[in-house]
Amino acid sequence: MDSQTPSYLLHVGDADRERLEVLANIYNPGSQDFLRRQLAIPVSTLIDLGCGHGQMTCWMAKEFSQARVFGLDHSDEQLAICEQNQVAQDVPNVTFLRHDVLAPAQGIPEADAVYCRYVLLHLREWDTFFSNALALCKPGGSLLIEEPGFPFFCYPRHEALDRANILGQTLTSRMGLRFDCIDPLWGYVHALEGVRVKDYSFSQPILTTRYQKSLLWRSFAQIHQPLISMGLCTVQEADSIIGQLAYIGSDPLHVVGTLRMVQLHLEKV
Ligand SMILES: C[S@@+](CC[C@H](N)C(=O)[O-])C[C@H]1O[C@@H](n2cnc3c(N)ncnc32)[C@H](O)[C@@H]1O
Repeated sequence: MDSQTPSYLLHVGDADRERLEVLANIYNPGSQDFLRRQLAIPVSTLIDLGCGHGQMTCWMAKEFSQARVFGLDHSDEQLAICEQNQVAQDVPNVTFLRHDVLAPAQGIPEADAVYCRYVLLHLREWDTFFSNALALCKPGGSLLIEEPGFPFFCYPRHEALDRANILGQTLTSRMGLRFDCIDPLWGYVHALEGVRVKDYSFSQPILTTRYQKSLLWRSFAQIHQPLISMGLCTVQEADSIIGQLAYIGSDPLHVVGTLRMVQLHLEKV
């Protein structure tokens, strides 16, 4: 883990470059459809909270080219890769800033829409997150959220994936995190003051290529060390699971589904 981001379970920077590229390959088409459908044009300011390596941030800047787009993340290592991606894609209307979403924002303009994907499952403090995210929204603005529900699945079922799902759930719930986010988030946003649930949807990508299916072992590899240090499995078991997940990924007869995502459009009222 990055010394600046002690509370974040996963790797950052180069150590997570390939997994976030795979994730973008799988989820960006559905996320882009969602944002195109939900965002009334024109928009002048957009914010991507917990922007990772900035794939969606750069896409938003190209898609809404008249807008100023801010990508915020608390890890300098993530932001360094965002800036490389920005240069490679030549998108001038993006600013990447170091910012902890659990701290009040300073010097960041209010946005027509604040977007975040795959972030709430890493946070215990949802009240603080929502209070800060809504403060970044203009009145009548949008908070667009995409978060996953567990588990991964494959057909035919494989005991290694079942075990990986159980270990992932056990680890994250012991850490006070809600990796199976959809059910708690659904209840949470409907009880949240100051917002109206304007629209919602689900996406459930199916992984068809070996590259996409590598998300299984790449995701498990990121929790390998925490599982062992918390005594939830042995090194041998974790290594064996990674090997079997890689086998599932390479076997054309295994159909693999990644995590279902809820897509929420909250309007600030
Ligand atoms: C799984 S990644 C998702 C990245 C990106 N949203 C995407 O969908 O590709 C989660 C990101 O949230 C960031 N993050 C986690 N906790 C954060 C916090 N408190 N403040 C800002 N960023 C945070 C991490 O550094 C990481 O880049």
